[in-house]
Amino acid sequence: MSNEAIARFLGPLMAAHLYWWSEAIFRPAKVSRKLKLHRPLAMGTLPRVKKREGLGPSLSTMYREPVYLREIPEHYPLVEDFDSIAPLYESAVLPFSGPIFSDMLTLLKPYLNTRIRILDPSCGPGTEAIKLAQTFPECEVIAADLSRGMVDYTASRAGDLSLTNMAFFQSDVGDPNPLFENYFDVIFCELSFHHYPDAEAAIKGFKRCLRPDGVLIIGDPGPEWFNRLAKRFSDIADPGFIKHRTGAEFQTLCEAASFSSFFWVESLPGIGISVAQA
Ligand SMILES: C[S@@+](CC[C@H](N)C(=O)[O-])C[C@H]1O[C@@H](n2cnc3c(N)ncnc32)[C@H](O)[C@@H]1O
Repeated sequence: MSNEAIARFLGPLMAAHLYWWSEAIFRPAKVSRKLKLHRPLAMGTLPRVKKREGLGPSLSTMYREPVYLREIPEHYPLVEDFDSIAPLYESAVLPFSGPIFSDMLTLLKPYLNTRIRILDPSCGPGTEAIKLAQTFPECEVIAADLSRGMVDYTASRAGDLSLTNMAFFQSDVGDPNPLFENYFDVIFCELSFHHYPDAEAAIKGFKRCLRPDGVLIIGDPGPEWFNRLAKRFSDIADPGFIKHRTGAEFQTLCEAASFSSFFWVESLPGIGISVAQA
């Protein structure tokens, strides 16, 4: 079979798999959680909440057009597939990512002060970044991604919705745009960490982008049992897949990057959410 034929087959297979997991596993787990029939596995302590107004929008007032990288990193081929799938991505992934987004937002809400600056460092087609920008119009949301196709697609969707509290950057998590340094109150990273070729560089990059006491939230597959189950499938069907990590591995990464606190919870079966404070 040619590579193209394999890709044509794997895309729908991945979408079906994600849909099935959401309906057969997430849905009953949410009911069981609501009825308090089980308590999600957790470790660490949630960061303390600091009530402070953010510094307000700045990059979104200066950069109305997408900003692209001048030099493309060597590992760009890992995201090349994302360039072409941007328009199809949302319909394939939303049934799976929707419940994860909702849990991440619940955990994040106490830290969402007014006029804060939020970075979505791997925004994909922009679904979550746009929702955040719409839900918190006085905040600024910077949608970044290494894939130029994803950045363009997100910018055009936000343009259609006339969102003015957003800006769009092509940026590598391991080597973030210098404008991001010490700029953000929150980094919201969903279903992307397993694509990063250098996890240490990514976490250190996140730390540099956060203001003191800023909060990093990462939602990604996590517990060991799921990582083992998913590995073979992810190796062949997830474009640019590198590795899933456990809560303990995320903790080690965050501690090595000098985050001051760390919390992790298996919020839905197979999915961990990490929350760390700069
Ligand atoms: C599976 S998609 C997730 C998109 C979206 N966050 C979601 O939850 O549906 C992973 C995204 O990570 C991006 N990505 C991969 N490596 C990256 C890197 N080194 N820097 C920034 N973004 C990267 C890809 O281009 C892709 O858009």
